[in-house]
Amino acid sequence: MCGIIGYIGTKKAAPILINGLLRLEYRGYDSAGIATIEKNGLSVMKDKGRVKNLYNLDGIDDLEGTIGIAHTRWATHGKPSKENAHPHLDNSNSFAVVHNGIIENYNDLRNFLVKNGYTFRSQTDTEVIPNLIHYYYSKDKVDDKNKVLRAVQHACKDLKGSFAIQVITKYLPDNLIVVRKDSPLVIGKGDGENYISSDIPAILSFTKDFYLLDNYEIAVLSRDQVVFYDFDLNKINKKVTSIDWNATSADKDGYEDYMLKEIYEQPNAIRETIGSRIPENEPCNFEDLSFTKEFLFSINKIYIVACGTAMHAGLSGKCAIEHLCNIPVIVDVASEFRYRNPIIDKNTLCIYLSQSGETADTIAALKLAKSKGATTLAISNVIGSSITREADYSIFTHAGPEIAVASTKAYTSQVVLLNILAIYFAEVLGSAPVEEIKDLKNEILALPEKIESALKTSSQMKEYAKSIYQEKDMFFLGRGIDYNTALEGSLKLKEISYIHSEAYAAGELKHGPIALIESGITVISILTDEKLVEKTISNIQEVITRGAKTLVITNKELPSNNIDVIINVPDTCTLLSPILSIVPLQLLAYYISKEKGLDVDKPRNLAKSVTVE
Ligand code: F6R
Repeated sequence: MCGIIGYIGTKKAAPILINGLLRLEYRGYDSAGIATIEKNGLSVMKDKGRVKNLYNLDGIDDLEGTIGIAHTRWATHGKPSKENAHPHLDNSNSFAVVHNGIIENYNDLRNFLVKNGYTFRSQTDTEVIPNLIHYYYSKDKVDDKNKVLRAVQHACKDLKGSFAIQVITKYLPDNLIVVRKDSPLVIGKGDGENYISSDIPAILSFTKDFYLLDNYEIAVLSRDQVVFYDFDLNKINKKVTSIDWNATSADKDGYEDYMLKEIYEQPNAIRETIGSRIPENEPCNFEDLSFTKEFLFSINKIYIVACGTAMHAGLSGKCAIEHLCNIPVIVDVASEFRYRNPIIDKNTLCIYLSQSGETADTIAALKLAKSKGATTLAISNVIGSSITREADYSIFTHAGPEIAVASTKAYTSQVVLLNILAIYFAEVLGSAPVEEIKDLKNEILALPEKIESALKTSSQMKEYAKSIYQEKDMFFLGRGIDYNTALEGSLKLKEISYIHSEAYAAGELKHGPIALIESGITVISILTDEKLVEKTISNIQEVITRGAKTLVITNKELPSNNIDVIINVPDTCTLLSPILSIVPLQLLAYYISKEKGLDVDKPRNLAKSVTVE
């Protein structure tokens, strides 16, 4: 959840670190800090609040050190405060550490250290790490160049939970050490300098060449090289991965907020997702997927497992796979899946959807399925992300970096990719009519332009937002595939506008929730499924009769039927309609948040990448 940045080179580290933190702020933003190696030893500067507060700290401009580590925090243990902000020092001020993750046994370790004379200045789990390193360093009687490395290794072997840590010390003034277990960490390779980050976009403007650290790997960085070790300190080789993302795509490009930029990037993001996967007059093509025909025929059940918005994309994936392939699909929330005993075997395909590829629950759910013999497929937006390294197979949405906490383009590109995947399966299995597949492919190829049209609802949604931004509760209704859009529209609204909302399958309304409908309440309905339009219209009439104000998103010609506002999006086939009908709802959530003067990109209590349970 937190973001970490490191630099080792010949330039002043502080500005590079703060700049990197600003790009990582979406991962956590309740406090921030940096540590550098200065001529007179370690310097640590930190404060509560946003990263930009670091610019106001006394002496920050005087830092000359060319090696440093930095952190932006999303509190887990201990409230947001200066004391709890990272970096943390050991009692002798010799080791500075930043950490992303959770140390589950920190209480035991803290008690152990207290018994050995150590004291603690913060309430964090992290503070045990520099003290443990110091403990092992001072116990080690061999005084060679690997003494610090051994101390870091011993300390990390004691840690239970997840961690990506960076360590600098006065004992190794020309090195920086990093270790990783179940928390993301990449090393950017420069020329005479190296960078560390929780994720790629934050350092994309410095390098496109990355080392992707795996679990239980340790790296010792100097200016000119990176030496890698396994957890037993055997040297290992790692390959450089080149990333072709454009650095400017991680900037705001003139938009007021990343979220708005990302909403408007959807046509291009989807072009990239489609890529060369739908060749003319040929079956869909997944070069990166080597499923055998026998395996595809042997699948008896598919699980799609994810969290939040990605799970909503999974619901539309289920519609596509069940309809085209006639294989039952169960969509499950990763945090539930991992703790039940899912019925899976070698004929089950488990698909894991994760924009970041770092979501702890989704990764744990994948490991569980693997241990039960299922075949696992990860769908992520981030090449080299943890989930893609765990899965048997991986495919990528290629939507480009998504920075805003509220997911938009990653969602639509996931729905597109799941539809292409369903077509790919159906073509191998021969399970869907050729004409239907042909139409679906044409409709997918037409999506980028249709999203451009859906984006033209922007001014209507901005106006509508002005009329409802002060509401306290709202309802979203839909049937069939439109229910998925209702769920996602409701989630977008909640997370960035803090307005309470509920999404219901429209037919469920009369089984309880209708008791909440009273005069003046806003009910937003989505109507795109031809077969179900009339049914949902009846449900809308039920709420109108009880005094609700109504907004309908549709791709059909509807009689006004006393509906207050009708927003039209381009028509497409039912399976793809969530990709277009969500666009006005993304814009609505955005404009309501702006009307309320909220921080759209960094909503309270949320973090972009949920790398803890
Ligand atoms: C909502 C949102 C979250 C994520 C969820 C999973 O806008 O972004 O609900 O979808 O935390 O994240 P990933 O896809 O990175 O696994």
